[in-house]
Amino acid sequence: MKDFAGKIAFITGGASGAGLGQAQIFSEAGMKVVIADARQDHLDEAMAYFKSKNADVHAIKLDVTDRAAFAAAADETEKVFGSCPDLLILTAGVNVFGPAEASTYDDYDWVVGVCFGGVVNGLVTFVPRMIKAKKGGHIAATVSWGAFNSGSTTAPYSAAKAGVLNLMESYHDALKNYGIGVTALCPANIRSKIYESALKGRPEKFSNTGYNVSEDTQTLLASIHANGMDPRVLADWLKKGIENEQFLVVPYEHGPRMVEIAVSRFVDYASPEGMKRLAEKAKQPPTAEEMQLMAEREGYDISARSAVPPAPGKGPAMPMKDVGFGKAKKDLDWVDPNKRMN
Ligand SMILES: NC(=O)c1ccc[n+]([C@@H]2O[C@H](COP(=O)([O-])OP(=O)(O)OC[C@H]3O[C@@H](n4cnc5c(N)ncnc54)[C@H](O)[C@@H]3O)[C@@H](O)[C@H]2O)c1
Repeated sequence: MKDFAGKIAFITGGASGAGLGQAQIFSEAGMKVVIADARQDHLDEAMAYFKSKNADVHAIKLDVTDRAAFAAAADETEKVFGSCPDLLILTAGVNVFGPAEASTYDDYDWVVGVCFGGVVNGLVTFVPRMIKAKKGGHIAATVSWGAFNSGSTTAPYSAAKAGVLNLMESYHDALKNYGIGVTALCPANIRSKIYESALKGRPEKFSNTGYNVSEDTQTLLASIHANGMDPRVLADWLKKGIENEQFLVVPYEHGPRMVEIAVSRFVDYASPEGMKRLAEKAKQPPTAEEMQLMAEREGYDISARSAVPPAPGKGPAMPMKDVGFGKAKKDLDWVDPNKRMN
């Protein structure tokens, strides 16, 4: 898809962070844009911005886990803009961190429900409509660098994102002959409000967490995300990826090299010699190249996380070990803090 002017975009999570950047960039490219988001305060703030720009943007309050509401949002889009979207961007997401062994069903049901289930619902709602409209188009998901990297404290999130990456590849193959392109956008740190989701965006029915979620944790995460990529810059990477019909967009100068390093560990996992190599490597500090690539992804020198706080605006506000980040709730008697990976 190369021409955007006059066409219709539907963006989940479009009222904040990455989704808002996408709504701005595609609106500026001349598209009519629907921003669909679960948070009314985010929608109100975003719409005040778009009204000030006289942009053709329509807001829909939508929880992406609600399938009936998704179908109603698709109907509303057709009513307001006259047709189904040419460009569907599935960006809504949430996260929360803690040891994998402390995870509860609620931790999985909430995070996987939004991050993976929300993408499934978007695809099942819109793909038949887009095919029937016979106008081609493009579908993108805002995945995450986490799709390539599981972590001891990111189990529900990384698993959901790895699932989305795999899912999008299936649709990339399936939709080729319908003239519908598919892109998986895999950023690392973004300047966004995602740190709020664990305290403000989590429904009561999924409130039983195994993780230590505190104000301190949120403050630390906020300071990390303050160094992340500008959502408008990220949206420019996505737009270029869509124009080039590129399946995978890792939005960094050295993106392809990052992927090469990340997936090479699977080659080692697949043999006894490789497992020994990985065990040896785990004892070594990251190489200079790995450090440089991490800094490119995070927006600051990641080694600062375990050392003294860096200068304001250059990294986390406090050392991670001093806050509850990535820890379990105190009352879980099977979690041994001495066996924690971080
Ligand atoms: N922030 C990062 O560092 C980062 C890194 C990689 C990937 N991502 C991904 O980027 C996407 C956007 O997140 P962001 O960082 O811009 O965060 P954000 O919180 O600023 O924006 C996400 C938006 O999604 C909305 N949302 C949450 N749950 C929803 C639901 N059930 N239904 C509809 N809308 C819902 C929120 O209200 C919010 O407006 C997410 O999928 C996230 O996983 C973020």
